[in-house]
Amino acid sequence: MELTRGRTMKGSDRICAALDVPDPQSARALAQKLSGRVGMLKVGLELFVAHGRAAVDAVRELAPIFLDLKLHDIPQTVESAARGAGALGASLVTIHASGGAAMVAAAKKGLAAGAQSVGLSAPKLLAVTVLTSLDDADLTAIGLGGPSREAVLRLGRLAVSAGADGLVCSPHEVSALRAALGHEPWLVVPGVRPAGSAAGDQRRTGTPASTVRDGADLLVIGRPLRDAADPGAAAETIAAEIDAG
Ligand code: C5P
Repeated sequence: MELTRGRTMKGSDRICAALDVPDPQSARALAQKLSGRVGMLKVGLELFVAHGRAAVDAVRELAPIFLDLKLHDIPQTVESAARGAGALGASLVTIHASGGAAMVAAAKKGLAAGAQSVGLSAPKLLAVTVLTSLDDADLTAIGLGGPSREAVLRLGRLAVSAGADGLVCSPHEVSALRAALGHEPWLVVPGVRPAGSAAGDQRRTGTPASTVRDGADLLVIGRPLRDAADPGAAAETIAAEIDAG
């Protein structure tokens, strides 16, 4: 399914639901509850490592797919893995920007080749800057010292100049990245928490309306939808919150 982008997007189009569930059947059940109320579905590591292509096939006709693989390896290996991912029919695929410029370029090449091999258009390549679960103390501990915002800007610039179509960043960095990189790159933002929901392990969080106002294209929302008594109603509430903001 095709992905739309732009100022005219409705609140619901901007929600990407993370299908963080153990199997394709649960993914499909959750996706059906959200169908028509979100713009995109995210298949991440939990589902993909256990079930591979079947995880994507289970939900592919319900919405465009964000395949969140967060690839990070030597360029040759990432290119080959991206070739496989490019043939799966996803609209967005992720890598880690910290893999470096050559790895980002290799991923782009692999996605294009994989998509072409099955007659599809290439998925957009998104680079994860800094995981939204890390705070400044965590960054210092892994040797990426300094404020997270600086690491995000540095990695964001690197990835976009190496060919990434967009970035994954926290709500806290959206406006700085927009100011630094302009309108072109997609900004996809996890760690979004509607008023009153638990942060869980996310550290750098923001609300749906403020994150879109700052310049985010898509909001990745997992537990606040998955764990809601009525996920469809929860998605509608978030969409309304975005539209109102
Ligand atoms: O449940 P929650 O809303 O925190 O889910 C966020 C989703 O976004 C998870 O699937 C997680 O893997 C993903 N993600 C993230 N931080 C990033 C990139 C992706 O939390 N930097």
